[in-house]
Amino acid sequence: MTDPRKIVLVGMPGSGKSTLGRTLAEKLNCPFFDLDELIEKKEGTPIAAIFPEKGEGYFRNLESLVLEETLDQKQAFVLATGGGAPCYNDNMSLINAKAISVYLDVPLNHILDRLNQTQIEVRPLFSGLDTSEIILKLKNMYVDRHSFYEKAKIKLRGEDISPELLIAEWMPYLK
Ligand code: S3P
Repeated sequence: MTDPRKIVLVGMPGSGKSTLGRTLAEKLNCPFFDLDELIEKKEGTPIAAIFPEKGEGYFRNLESLVLEETLDQKQAFVLATGGGAPCYNDNMSLINAKAISVYLDVPLNHILDRLNQTQIEVRPLFSGLDTSEIILKLKNMYVDRHSFYEKAKIKLRGEDISPELLIAEWMPYLK
């Protein structure tokens, strides 16, 4: 059965899931978790090292495992997932069965700005690529992944999705 206080943010890398999630959790007075950070803690290795050392398949299995463990917690929380998490191993169905999912559908140009501001090197899927290759990769990822993200219960579109707006419009679903 769904616990309405478990909120899971999904969307492309650089869509602002962690930034929004942190503020949302503060406002809802519950813990915030970042799936990538939980994976790094469990593995004792940065994500950027897991990909080249153990491969993407290993990372995806670990990601699904940590996602499931987190969703099974009894407490309320806000969880920001990695961009790929909902798209592997039936994870989106699992998320929807156990939590309120929120899709941050952010325009590609805004994602690019955000990715330029933060470091590309912590995102192994973009390592070694130049800007035009990153743009192409992001476009392809969006095409591949949108149908998974679209299964989210709440879909928010725009450049700056504020926690205030999310709370104001969707509060009945979030508490
Ligand atoms: C990934 C996104 C990353 C991280 C990993 C893979 C992806 O998280 O989980 O590098 O497949 O899109 P962010 O969405 O926080 O960048």
